[in-house]
Amino acid sequence: MTETESVDAIKACLGQRSIVLVGLMGCGKSSIGKRLAARMGLPFLDADEEIERAAAKSINEIFTDHGEAHFREGERKVISRLLANGPQVLATGGGAYMHPETRQKIREGGFCIWLRAELPVLMRRVGKRDTRPLLRSGNPEATMRKLMEARYPVYAEADLTIESRDEPHEVIVSEIINRTVQRCAQVTSHSPNPKDAVAPMTAAPLSETATEATATGTASRTVGVDLANRSYDVLIGTGLVRNAGALIKQRLGPVKCGIVTDENVARHHLAVLEASLKAEGMFAGSIILPPGEATKSFRELGPLCEKLLELGLERGDIVVPFGGGVIGDLAGFAAGILRRGVRFVQIPTSLLAQVDSSVGGKTGINTPQGKNLIGVFHQPNLVLADTDVLATLPEREVRAGYAEVAKYGLLGDADFFSWLEQNFRGVFGNSGPDLTHAIETSVKAKAAIVARDEHETGDRALLNLGHTFGHALEAWTGFSSRLLHGEGVSIGMCLAFRLSEELGLCPKGTAGRVTRHLKAAGLPVHINDIQGGKANADELMRLMAQDKKVSKGRLTFIMARDIGQAFITRDIDPEAVRAFLAREIGGCEIGG
Ligand SMILES: NC(=O)c1ccc[n+]([C@@H]2O[C@H](COP(=O)([O-])OP(=O)(O)OC[C@H]3O[C@@H](n4cnc5c(N)ncnc54)[C@H](O)[C@@H]3O)[C@@H](O)[C@H]2O)c1
Repeated sequence: MTETESVDAIKACLGQRSIVLVGLMGCGKSSIGKRLAARMGLPFLDADEEIERAAAKSINEIFTDHGEAHFREGERKVISRLLANGPQVLATGGGAYMHPETRQKIREGGFCIWLRAELPVLMRRVGKRDTRPLLRSGNPEATMRKLMEARYPVYAEADLTIESRDEPHEVIVSEIINRTVQRCAQVTSHSPNPKDAVAPMTAAPLSETATEATATGTASRTVGVDLANRSYDVLIGTGLVRNAGALIKQRLGPVKCGIVTDENVARHHLAVLEASLKAEGMFAGSIILPPGEATKSFRELGPLCEKLLELGLERGDIVVPFGGGVIGDLAGFAAGILRRGVRFVQIPTSLLAQVDSSVGGKTGINTPQGKNLIGVFHQPNLVLADTDVLATLPEREVRAGYAEVAKYGLLGDADFFSWLEQNFRGVFGNSGPDLTHAIETSVKAKAAIVARDEHETGDRALLNLGHTFGHALEAWTGFSSRLLHGEGVSIGMCLAFRLSEELGLCPKGTAGRVTRHLKAAGLPVHINDIQGGKANADELMRLMAQDKKVSKGRLTFIMARDIGQAFITRDIDPEAVRAFLAREIGGCEIGG
């Protein structure tokens, strides 16, 4: 779709409604808003300027002469008047959206976008100006922090959140246009009635086939994991974190929830989740752990269990792992052993966790002897995969998660792999339909395998495609940032297909196709793509022998007869594998 087509689609969807920008001072509402309006061919209006014009006074003067309450009332009237004259791009003052009546007006007459920014970014931007009444006294940074705490949970009610970061404004404007048109596509493709295209976007369900659109959540897809009395749903969509309290209450009752998260996720998203649980009276407390694989350890597990007990969680209460696979595996394990097992709700925040680790009930930690060697099968009671949170996931992590998405195509769904070859760029876009489709297809594939073989006595091992090699490479790099889990899986899958081809198990050219696609997606595909030292075949064989997929001394390999036709075997000659790895490390390119 060209930008002109996107803009036309957004305008058709907006009808008379305006795009309303909300956010704290310094988040870029005016500067980004002006550029957005210019690119969309819409008028730009700044509510603060209109208020000054109407009052014939500056905002500082209105504050000084009449106080904040008077200003807010005037602001409400002016914004209501402006919204009656849409469509336009309307920038609002930082406090406008906090006023319940103004917020309601914006809901009715606008499509609301929150320009969210981190504290250092805001302070840098407002530092030089003296026009902000709320920052004129005391410690401006402390004031700004307080404003963030009070306002971010409310701003999170906006229809769309865009991270206003240190990038050129035009980049942010492109992101706004792309994500808004995706939202319009979701609304209009859902509805058989074209008139709905001009109904308020917030009122329309945000789903394509509306498997679920509740009063309290905006899940566009629901995938069931069918495990008799341990069955549960995976909700996939936008806005799930900000509705988590209501969704959990609706399905699991008014329970106390102890959140477990890491520092990165906490910085971006914890306030919204806490606010949502507090609104339902279900918040017990949050435990914030350091990010990274090292957190999946006995060292963190003990104190975590004790802190969960200190939060007062009882048997009927709930642990909420809120993070990537590391937090999900660790906190899921803690839930499995706390009071001999309490319920838990996974809220995965990385792509990898949304498509893989949050579903299926494998929980656990690493030890010096190897990865995931200690743990329990403990199924979650609900999974909320909110695609909005992926907006803050670093790009390298998104790519690593994509390896697990591609895995589902490679192991059992050739059509999905072909679809990914055509559409992978869309999957990398924020919260769009391609991303939702990829997550849903992946979760469905995983749910089907888990339902057949919950405890990995057979079929479930297929999910380890690429993992025997991948885990050995992760161990060789010391589980460090040299190689992310998904990157190890990407190289591992390429190795599995190349070895399959070399052993005559799959047609010539198959490994080349796999390698080409993963490389195009920005993933490493050869052992030698790992920076910082050359691997050694004997060392990798030794590490593979420690894998938990070893049985009676024989390694389990997932090989392939073709794309979408993986199979489990214990019949691969270790000497053939060692020689193959030696050739790979020697730099010999096969099928790549
Ligand atoms: N249980 C299973 O079935 C299963 C399956 C696959 C993988 N895993 C495990 O999952 C782990 C890997 O998971 P991962 O890739 O999610 O790693 P991770 O949990 O370490 O997350 C990756 C990084 O992204 C950050 N992050 C996560 N969400 C973010 C967000 N929304 N915004 C900004 N930063 C964010 C994290 O802080 C971390 O730095 C491994 O330990 C692996 O063994 C488990």
